[in-house]
Amino acid sequence: MQEAIDIQGARDLWVRPLSPACGAELGGIDLSRPLAAHEVRAIKDAWNEHIVLVFRGQKLSQDDQLRFAAYFGDLGSRKKAPEPLRARAEGIRQDHEKVLLVTNIKVDGNPIGAFGDGEFWFHIDSGYAPRPYKYTFLYALELPSRGGNTKFSNMYMAYDAVPAELKEKLKGKKALHIHEYNRAKQAKSWGDISGIPHHAHPVFVTHPDTGRKTLFVDRLMTTRIEGLDETESDAILNTLYELGERPDFIYEHVWQLGDFVMWDNRCTIHARTDFPKEERRLLRRCTVEGEPLYE
Ligand code: OGA
Ligand code: MN
Repeated sequence: MQEAIDIQGARDLWVRPLSPACGAELGGIDLSRPLAAHEVRAIKDAWNEHIVLVFRGQKLSQDDQLRFAAYFGDLGSRKKAPEPLRARAEGIRQDHEKVLLVTNIKVDGNPIGAFGDGEFWFHIDSGYAPRPYKYTFLYALELPSRGGNTKFSNMYMAYDAVPAELKEKLKGKKALHIHEYNRAKQAKSWGDISGIPHHAHPVFVTHPDTGRKTLFVDRLMTTRIEGLDETESDAILNTLYELGERPDFIYEHVWQLGDFVMWDNRCTIHARTDFPKEERRLLRRCTVEGEPLYE
């Protein structure tokens, strides 16, 4: 099913939903050229509706990507890991403050970018920060022959699926998000976390643009609900992780070269599937800066 977006001057733009959960492909637009305000508005409307947007076959320089992302807010700066965690996070070719190379490529044994090989559990980009990135934009430059898919879960749906009693119990509660720079290992939450980036956000967040409630919890970094004891917090979080990862809430993106994918971090979580580590994978990422989140 493909629908034209009926916006004056943007009649070539079309949208095609990619799954019952979330995700839509937008076509008929070349993101390497400057866009008119009404085109940006049409994309933004489609984004609020579909949460994850996919543009195929784009040819984007770094400047093109940054110009396009800046239509949606102030570009996010790459976050620096604290010294003791730094070795796991840095890459030697991270030479633009607003750009992160997501790659397993090494030169002379040194990773040129971040996030290396393998599986990456469900997470929210910079969910551990006081102002998590609103948006992330990822552009595929080199891909392995299989795997390395990115899965997106619709957290509005996850919120709606939280049982009523649990919604009541968690009303007004915050959860701690901790970033230990792991990709497939949960952060430890009950020891000393000073020196490890962390922040508490409401378990349920009202999306500032749509006004809809979403579940703001992920398996990788959200590890403690404030005001509950460890046993109860762990049990509830397990329920919430499972809801967030329900297959019927997920769109799984299988990358092609030239794909440009953008998502909203306030109402999605995302994960990466494993891929052959001897094959190269390179994506160029940028973000839009966020704001504090409220229930
Ligand atoms: C990211 C991310 C997943 C991937 O760039 O934030 O989670 O598929 N990437 O590499
Ligand atoms: Mn991510």
